[in-house]
Order: sequence, then C-alpha cells, then structure tokens
Amino acid sequence: MRKLLPVAAAVCGLILGLVAEQAPAVESRAQVNAVRNKPVVRGAIVYKYYCQLCHGERGDGAARAAKNYGENLLRIKAGSRQYYEDIIRKGGEAIGKSPFMPVWQDELSEEQINDVIAYLSVVTDEIERGAAVFKTNCILCHGTKGDGQGRASTLYNPPPANLTRSDKNDMYKKMIITMGGEAMGRSKFMPIWGEQLTEQEISDVVAYLRTILVVPPPPEAGL
Ligand code: HEC
Ligand code: HEC
Repeated sequence: MRKLLPVAAAVCGLILGLVAEQAPAVESRAQVNAVRNKPVVRGAIVYKYYCQLCHGERGDGAARAAKNYGENLLRIKAGSRQYYEDIIRKGGEAIGKSPFMPVWQDELSEEQINDVIAYLSVVTDEIERGAAVFKTNCILCHGTKGDGQGRASTLYNPPPANLTRSDKNDMYKKMIITMGGEAMGRSKFMPIWGEQLTEQEISDVVAYLRTILVVPPPPEAGL
C-alpha cells in the first residue's frame, strides 16, 4: 500500500496536468486590468480622442486637419522625450513652433500626458497600434493572449475563437470583425465592430493577429 501511494500521486498529477493543458483557467479580472492599464494602451485612447484629428491615425499627418495645416507639419517625427513633453505641455507657440499645436497641460492629467507620450513611440507601427486596439476591445472574450480564455469566454457557446490557432486568412478576419459573427454564419456574440472601429483600426488589429499565430495558416486558408 505504502509503495502504491507515490504511484497513485504521480498518476493523479499526470491526469491533473492533462486536464490543465486541455482547459487552461479562464483569466481573472486582475489579468484583464493589468493588460488594459499599460501606459501604451491607455495612451492610445488619449491619442484617439485628443490628437488624432490633427496628427492622423498613423501619426503621419494624414488627418482631417491636414487640409488646414498640411500633412508635413502634422507628421510626428522621431524626437526626444523632453521635446515631446515640452511641446505637448506648453503647446507649439511657447517653444517657437506652430501655434496650431495646442497647450495640453491644463486639459490632460499628468498620467494622460505620460501615457500619450508612451503611445507616440509606437503610433507609426501598425502592429503596435493593432495590439492596443486588441487590448482595449477584444481581451474580455478572446483573452489577453488571444487564446480564447478571456474572462467572459465561459458565457458563450461556441466560445470565442482561439485566435492564436485561427485557420482563417486576413480577408476573412477583416470581414468577421467588421460585420460581426452573424453576418458570416457564425455566433452572433462575435460583435459587429465596423461601427466602433475605423478601417485603419481593423486593418491594424488584423496585422496584430498575424503576429500571435502559433501555427501559420495554410496558404489556401479562408472562406
Ligand atoms: C489642432 C491640431 C493639433 C492637435 C489636436 C494636436 N496637435 Fe500636436 N501638433 C500640431 C501642429 C500644427 C504641430 C507642428 C508644430 C511645428 O512643428 O511647428 C504639432 C506638433 C506636435 C509634436 C511635435 C512633432 C514633431 O515631430 O516635431 C508632438 C509630439 C505633438 N504635436 C503631440 C500631440 C499630442 C500628444 C496631441 C494630443 C494630446 C496633439 N499633438 C494634438 C497640431 C495639433
Ligand atoms: C463578446 C465577446 C467577443 C468580443 C468582445 C470579441 N469577440 Fe471575436 N469572437 C467571439 C466569438 C463567440 C467568436 C466565435 C464565433 C463562432 O465560432 O461562431 C469570435 C470569433 C472571432 C474571429 C474568428 C476567428 C476564426 O478563426 O474563425 C475573429 C477573427 C475575432 N473573433 C476577432 C475579434 C476581434 C479583433 C475583437 C475585438 C475588436 C473581438 N473578436 C471581440 C466573441 C467576441
């Protein structure tokens, strides 16, 4: 009997291990919050509301305001943190630049200023932009890693897709994200994002999804 115990324990451990591998624990609220609270992710939201109109979704100055100020002026070039901080806090005029860059220190909190500066360092990178879109909008269902283990995942049947193992191509992903699951003959609980996200945000998040794949899709994958 005494000899059997370690064997039994090992077998139990093995079974538990297998179960754990098949059904990883659903994520906690703390895990979701930790990802959403990254400065870059918060900064993306600040940028979208306060800066995008002039500097554009990609930070390249392709924006509505370019008609008035010109794209070249509005493009965010690589600059030192100190320079970014100065022009954001005090506005363009105070540092001998264009007065059309507003003063932000009275409008934004210290945290928002720091967050938006963190985001400026990635605003020209589509994958980083897409990561921010994903972390803001998708992790509750698809999980912080995109593996389908989000906090709300247990509420849905079929469950939110494991996006790290998707066999769909970019075009299909773009369509299901834009039009929602139902329009694609899938679950209606995959929301329609076409009204909340811009085409740029959708194409960025699709680019990000490509980077989290653990198995590359076959070339003929898709519809
Ligand atoms: C009303 C239009 C407008 C808005 C809104 C705006 N900016 Fe600007 N911004 C400008 C203009 C114009 C310049 C160019 C200043 C110059 O070079 O003379 C500029 C320049 C900058 C620069 C320097 C870029 C470089 O490469 O020299 C940074 C950084 C910047 N803005 C950040 C921000 C941030 C962050 C926000 C949002 C919190 C924001 N801007 C909102 C108009 C705007
Ligand atoms: C409310 C929960 C929920 C949210 C939030 C959500 N999804 Fe989904 N998503 C689902 C469900 C459920 C499915 C599975 C549909 C099915 O199998 O019928 C799905 C499927 C998908 C698929 C199809 C993947 C495949 O391989 O077939 C993609 C791509 C996708 N979601 C992307 C996103 C993106 C990007 C976001 C954020 C912008 C997002 N989802 C937000 C629930 C959600």
